[in-house]
Amino acid sequence: LVYMVIKNDGEEQNMIWLVNLKNIFSKQLPNMPKEYIVRLVMDPRHHSMICLKNNTVIGGITYRPFWRQNMGEIAFCAVSANEQVKGYGTRLMNHLKEYVCDKENMTHLITFADNNAVGYFQKQGFTKDVMMEREKWVGYIKEYDGGTIMECALSAQVSYTE
Ligand code: ACO
Repeated sequence: LVYMVIKNDGEEQNMIWLVNLKNIFSKQLPNMPKEYIVRLVMDPRHHSMICLKNNTVIGGITYRPFWRQNMGEIAFCAVSANEQVKGYGTRLMNHLKEYVCDKENMTHLITFADNNAVGYFQKQGFTKDVMMEREKWVGYIKEYDGGTIMECALSAQVSYTE
């Protein structure tokens, strides 16, 4: 298994992987408009932590770093249907935490979680109590009906992938 962060940087291989990831999101997040998923996944300001199994994308997390706020907003997170509940969702999130904390100096991850994914995010250390100052995230995070804002504080002292 390989975990890595990619974005739309003109590299053909990254483009292929991003299209594969976009297709997983479209299937797994049927309530999200498909054009919206494409736009964010292909937006070069968004980064994606992908998980490759035999060089095939089996899941990923697309997020946008907000550099001044040291905060990453998770836009989409999914694992393909036949690979769910095998621990990949947990490992993806741990690799994302490690990467954004070490490489991007992020102190928080924030997301607007689907109501049926709240349990998953809670297991990944996210809480419904957002401790970050409101000014840091209001107006940046896209809110929508049927979702809950959740936060995870990160620590550079913690190794998330060991
Ligand atoms: N509700 C509650 N618990 C869950 C859910 C859920 N929807 N999904 C997984 N879990 C639990 C698992 O039972 C497991 O618990 P355990 O550690 O006690 O055994 C734990 O969470 C982690 O399971 P993994 O196997 O690591 O997770 P998986 O690889 O299945 O990935 C994911 C989880 C990404 C939510 C996957 O099920 C998926 O793609 N679901 C459909 C898409 C989705 O809902 N994505 C999130 C939408 S919100 C957003 O994108 C911002």
